[in-house]
Amino acid sequence: MTLSIQNKSEMLSKSFIYGVATASFQIEGASESRLPNIWDAFCAKEGKIADGSNGNIACDHLQLWEQDVDLIESLGVDAYRLSISWPRVIDLEGKLNHKGLSFYIKLLDELNKRKIKSFVTFYHWDLPQHLEEKGGWLNRETAYQFENYVNLVSKALGDRVYAYATLNEPFCSAYLGYEAGVHAPGLKSKNYGKKAAHHLLLAHGLAIQQLNKNCPAIKKGIVLNFTPCYPNNESFQDKVAANIADDYFNQWYIKPLFDGQYPELIEKLEDEHQPDILEGDLDIISTPIDYLGVNYYTRAIYSATNEGYGFRELPPQEPLTDIGWEIYPQAMTDLLISLDQKYKLPPIYITENGMAAADKIIAQQVDDFERIDYLQNHLNAVDSAMSAGVDIRGYFAWSLMDNFEWAEGYTKRFGLVYVDYQTQERTVKKSGKVYRDFISQRQDLPTK
Ligand code: FCB
Repeated sequence: MTLSIQNKSEMLSKSFIYGVATASFQIEGASESRLPNIWDAFCAKEGKIADGSNGNIACDHLQLWEQDVDLIESLGVDAYRLSISWPRVIDLEGKLNHKGLSFYIKLLDELNKRKIKSFVTFYHWDLPQHLEEKGGWLNRETAYQFENYVNLVSKALGDRVYAYATLNEPFCSAYLGYEAGVHAPGLKSKNYGKKAAHHLLLAHGLAIQQLNKNCPAIKKGIVLNFTPCYPNNESFQDKVAANIADDYFNQWYIKPLFDGQYPELIEKLEDEHQPDILEGDLDIISTPIDYLGVNYYTRAIYSATNEGYGFRELPPQEPLTDIGWEIYPQAMTDLLISLDQKYKLPPIYITENGMAAADKIIAQQVDDFERIDYLQNHLNAVDSAMSAGVDIRGYFAWSLMDNFEWAEGYTKRFGLVYVDYQTQERTVKKSGKVYRDFISQRQDLPTK
């Protein structure tokens, strides 16, 4: 089995960046050598994580990082997307923790030595617990704490980084963490979701301003996830419902960045559900960025209802991945084209895409054909968007290796590399080998 590109777009050029992605809490372990974060606290609560696990050891990456860099290099990728653990690098007083930071310095130096570009995210959901205890993302002050963290760390890392992202998927931090309550910190109220979202977006804008000052030559952006919303049928009501859901879950996070305003839906939100916006916030939030990171996994289907804001999500349609998400690559093409039409965007990187599968390791082999199929269909989906004129510069598979999948614990495997959590042995899956072969046959085409 091999991977190929259907329309032969620039995705076959060596200037198109291919990478693999991870996040600090999901792989690092070594929780005892940093401050506690909201996921430590959430995991400690009964019934929150499917297998009752936590991130104390995870993939033991803090110990095994050199071997993991070898692994990344062996996949032949151009880039590695990682995140920094805020509670590892900043102390209780808001000062740099040099020992914690030295881990990332070593890692980045090694990546640079091997000519692997680093895409570094400052916030992939692991808020220091002491900040949560002061209100977390419901407290505007957290945005300024984030600004301070980004300022100190970006100064200390100098020119080691290829591209920074401020936040990963603020939708998940805000909605899943403060409104649906299924992610840390596990608060559940419609009064909270949009308030948390606003402070996250403010944190993003403040951070971009620090990065512009500290490292003008490094690319800066944000990573958003999109779950495109489709109507259940062609009725006017269901189409309206899908549009409202789209504004609530997707456009809410991108429109302020590029248009400096929230979707019109804000006018219909009940008073208690409103974000607390101060004058000038939207100017900060819409500070220009160099790239947009797009994460895509699945779509959702909605019908109209008289309850809430008028939309109701229906169960996903088959085929489903092992985590229950519908496989629907067409939505990825549609999404990329529609974002390009709606907004004046900088270049896009696909910063996450991949699937969970019930992988089995047999005689040192993992034959994850379904994942290869998923990658193939989604690479073609990106290629179709590029052929339609969307400026996309790279693609990152989620994930380098199996890891702690948030509320699902270790029960869902997304890696191109299989991890045996008992022995910490890593085995490259068939998908990893096929991805490597695909990347290695690219040509030197003119660069942008
Ligand atoms: C995304 C997260 C990432 C991973 C994948 C499966 O929402 O950014 O950490 O859990 O989903």
